[in-house]
Amino acid sequence: MMNLEKSIVLNGRKVALHTEHRSSLGDFVRECGTHSVHLACEHGVCGACNVMVGSRCVRSCLTLAHSCEGESITTLEGLQDDLAQRLRTAFNAHHALQCGFCTPGMFMSAYELLNSGEALDETRVREHLAGNICRCTGYQGIVEAVLSVARSHPITTSSGSGVQP
Ligand code: FES
Ligand code: FES
Repeated sequence: MMNLEKSIVLNGRKVALHTEHRSSLGDFVRECGTHSVHLACEHGVCGACNVMVGSRCVRSCLTLAHSCEGESITTLEGLQDDLAQRLRTAFNAHHALQCGFCTPGMFMSAYELLNSGEALDETRVREHLAGNICRCTGYQGIVEAVLSVARSHPITTSSGSGVQP
């Protein structure tokens, strides 16, 4: 059944939830034109579909679009702050992508981790990114990119600095 009254905010723009109640968030945001969201396994294993719901990175293939009513959804297209720009630069510098299929979901996970302000080392970065599969197996460059952002400009929040000494 269609519902034109409910809405979400997608990359800063209010969008009516003009979709079936059983539709996934991943299908919905792709229908809205945000094609950086990749749907691959569609059962929560690969992380290619990750998006931000508020400050949380979630599997959009496992999330019902209607459960996000009133929430702010951010995809790779909408991540334009300083942290995202630094992470983009680092992905390029460290050759953190090959075919690029996993990259948007990987980027969302990495952004969530850096944005949390928690202390980071290689083990912690690998642990956090373990939910993202890269079929090109380019993990080393991705981890180095994340660590380089944390090291070059520690993220300081109420919960601490972004890199362990
Ligand atoms: S498509 Fe959602 S986790 Fe793989
Ligand atoms: S860069 Fe190809 S799947 Fe990760």
